[in-house]
Amino acid sequence: MLELTEVSVYYAAKGEKKHVAGPVTLQVANRETCAIIGPSGCGKTSLLRIMAGVQNSFTGSVKLDGEDLKPDLHKIAYIPQNSGFLRWKTIRNNCLLPVKIKKLPLDSEVNSRLKEITQRLEIEDIMDRYPSQVSGGQLQRAAVARSLMIKPDLLLMDEPFSALDALTREYAQNMLRCVLKDFKATAVLVTHSIEEAVFLADRVIVLSASPGKIIADITTLSSAYEDRSAVRFTKLTAIVRQLIKDEWEGFGEEESNSVC
Ligand SMILES: Nc1ncnc2c1ncn2[C@@H]1O[C@H](COP(=O)(O)OP(=O)(O)OP(=O)(O)O)[C@@H](O)[C@H]1O
Ligand SMILES: [Mg+2]
Repeated sequence: MLELTEVSVYYAAKGEKKHVAGPVTLQVANRETCAIIGPSGCGKTSLLRIMAGVQNSFTGSVKLDGEDLKPDLHKIAYIPQNSGFLRWKTIRNNCLLPVKIKKLPLDSEVNSRLKEITQRLEIEDIMDRYPSQVSGGQLQRAAVARSLMIKPDLLLMDEPFSALDALTREYAQNMLRCVLKDFKATAVLVTHSIEEAVFLADRVIVLSASPGKIIADITTLSSAYEDRSAVRFTKLTAIVRQLIKDEWEGFGEEESNSVC
């Protein structure tokens, strides 16, 4: 389980400490997918970087399976907002990078895992190209493939499909949904899309404007519907949209909401 307790994010600005998010207390159960939605600048990326163990400018505690979170102890896959590929390495070598960083053997198991994941994400044909030689959609799917290579304890995704057109995005979401289910990852997804959050996540966490605090925690039970045409999906998306609108307009007040 991922546990954030009273996490607040600070940055230094003009010699002063600026509070940009928190305090946030959040628990994500093993194999749960949790989406975070919030206005631009409320601290979503900062919180995700803290969960990835790559940002230290915070107070509070972050634990994974009861231990203080440490990138060298835990297997954490983090897909940054720009996908973070090295342009001088092929897609294959970018995907194998986490395996090398973790000093795991590049053996037949790794190769068959890479093959299986890239087939599932339909990118096996682009593996020997460089990032500049593939489309944005292929690159974002490759980022998902790379993140799954080390069988992560925790998968963190920052707007992984934001650069895609509407149909390609739905297609990529369908694939990610299957992959998350099959690979049983514990995942946190930052998104600006309510549909994406409801479709992919078991829970949607809504943050206020900066300093971002949790103003709603909505259980979506996304496994209860097969696709976007399900009545439940349409209804739930409308409920979440209204809830977010009310909260952001300041009508919802303090209480966290739970919708099932
Ligand atoms: N390294 C930094 N130094 C100073 N301020 C920063 C730094 N990184 C982010 N900030 C500020 O902290 C606030 C939160 O940034 P963050 O990137 O976490 O927001 P976000 O919710 O992810 O926004 P978006 O939806 O636009 O991606 C913003 O006001 C941003 O300008
Ligand atoms: Mg961001």
